[in-house]
Formats: sequence, structure tokens, C-alpha cells
Amino acid sequence: TQGELEAAIAAAPDLRALDAVRVGALGKSGTVTALLKGLGAVPPEERKARGAAVNAVKQALEGALDARKAVLEREALEARLRAERLDVSLPARTAPPAGAEAGAIHPIARTVEELTAIFGTMGFTVAEGPDIESDWYNFSALNIPGHHPARQDQDTFYLPPAHGDGFETVLRTHTSPVQIRTMLEGEPPIRVIVPGRTYRADHDATHSPMFHQVEGLVIGRDITLGHLKGCLIDFLRAFFGIAELPVRFRSSYFPFTEPSMEVDIGWDRKTGELGKGSDWLEILGSGMVHPKVLANAGVDPKVWQGFAFGMGIERITMLKHGIADLRPFYESDVRWLRHYGAPV
Ligand code: PHE
Repeated sequence: TQGELEAAIAAAPDLRALDAVRVGALGKSGTVTALLKGLGAVPPEERKARGAAVNAVKQALEGALDARKAVLEREALEARLRAERLDVSLPARTAPPAGAEAGAIHPIARTVEELTAIFGTMGFTVAEGPDIESDWYNFSALNIPGHHPARQDQDTFYLPPAHGDGFETVLRTHTSPVQIRTMLEGEPPIRVIVPGRTYRADHDATHSPMFHQVEGLVIGRDITLGHLKGCLIDFLRAFFGIAELPVRFRSSYFPFTEPSMEVDIGWDRKTGELGKGSDWLEILGSGMVHPKVLANAGVDPKVWQGFAFGMGIERITMLKHGIADLRPFYESDVRWLRHYGAPV
């Protein structure tokens, strides 16, 4: 009877039991389904009333089934939430679980942390820019003319022009475009370092198509070559931890600095020891920011002047730790990372 079925529905302890009741009544060979099928045998004058009555029973049962289903589903969800509850007040695990290997701060990140701290004591803050740059920021604004070898395809990764505006887009070949961005975004005086990824279409044992540089930019009313030299000598001695590290400034050329200087540190070529021997090792590029570059970035060269430098982060990391091979930097071997990196 309808009453019995409704009682069975109300008593169904879970979704499976409820479905069994549903199949028994409304399934293909269910009791209610049989009544509906039997309507054909009912005399025509009774059929209409009879059909309406059976349908009313069917609808009542469907309603009861849906209601009970909703209740059971909510109960099941609540039970699951209770079972899976996290105790956020538990203390954190301090060690990796048994059998798991602890990771390490990557040597690149370690060097960035170290040099950020050193430059931080000299009043530098950290600036950043995008890896994907317009040709203008990466080259033109830095006074690198169209025929300069740095623009040729074998060095630069070109991307399709962005937004169909016809301007070339590149993967930045150095962190120097952030000089321009920093000067355009803020007002001098400026004192920033810019650690970041850089890209050149070059791949062999000592070159990776993606590598890291750190740029430095200092702009003030009376910043001189003397400041450049003092700043870099102090940094190199602090970074390599050698108080008397010999540092040599050698005249050079970059389109965006004038004068330009490459910086060498003293080492012993045979033993690889820094600060010993009588050999020189080139380590970074630097110079006084070219007046055209200042003007391109909206800084008045009659009022402001300053210096810039750029160095390879892999390179100074390899020299500091005596790492001979560039490739492991990008291989995520946890033993290598733990040996040359820093503890987490
Ligand atoms: N951008 C230069 C390079 O990638 C380095 C540099 C930076 C030189 C700033 C001078 C001033 O080689």
C-alpha cells in the first residue's frame, strides 16, 4: 500500500536502501508500475478515475523519495566532512616525513639572497621587470642601434609582435631594460638592483639559453666613477668573502654606458683560487649611464648622472663555490642542490 511504501521510504537508512524501495515501486517491474500497466484491463468507465488515483500515488511516492534522498545526501556529506576534518591547531611538521628527502634553496636563489643583503646594506632596493620585452626597452632605449650585433637573430629570441601593433617583442637578452623602466616609473635619485632571468639563443657546455643576471643602477646629482668603483669593490669583496680581493677596472664599450668598464678579479688560473696568483678573470660590465639613455628614460642628463652594472649570477655562483659545470643548475638533482644551495 501507499502507506507501507511511504514508511519504507522514511525508514531507508541510506541511499542504497532508498533506491531499493524506489525500484520495488517505480522500477520496470515495480508494484506501482504494474498498476499503471494494468490500466488497459480496467473497464473504460473506471479507467480515468483509476488512472488519476494511481498517478497521484506515483507522484506522492516520487516526492517522498526525493525528500528522503536529499536528507540522506546531506547526512552523507556531513559525515564525510566530519571524518575529513583538519585540525588546523596541530603544530607543523618540522622535519620531512620519514623516507622523504629535504630540498634546498637553489644556488641561484641563494646568491640572489646574498647579494640582495649586501647591496641592501648600501641602500639598494630590488626592482623587477618582465622577461618578455619590447625591442624598444631591450635595445633602442639603451642606445643599441639596429645594426648592433646584439640584435642579430643568433643571439636574440624574437617573439611575434604583441597585440598586432607591429612592434617586435623579444625575450630580454639582459636585465638592462629594467634601467629604463625604473627611470620612467620613478624619480631620481635611484638606487636599485635587478636580479632576474635573461635569454640568449646560445647553448653549449658554458652557455644556457636561459640564465640569470643582476643589474645595478644608481642615479643622483653627483654620482661619479669613484662611486661606481667603490660600490663594486665593496660588493665583490663582501660577496666572495675575501677582504683583499684584487679588483681591476678595464676600459671597454657598451652602447648604454660612457665611459664603460669591464671589471676583473684576481685569481690563480691553475688552481682556480680567487684572490691568489697573478691572473685576471672578467666578471662584470659597468659604466656611467649614457646621457642618451637618461634622456630616453625621461631623466634630464644636465641634472642627473649615475652608473650601471650587470653581471651573470650563474658565473659568480660558480666562481664562489668552485662549480665547474653550468648544466646542473638546471637539472634539479637534489644532492647537487643540497651541496651548493642553502638549507631550507
Ligand atoms: N647589459 C650588459 C650585458 O648583458 C651588462 C652591463 C650592464 C654593462 C650595465 C654595463 C652596464 O652584458
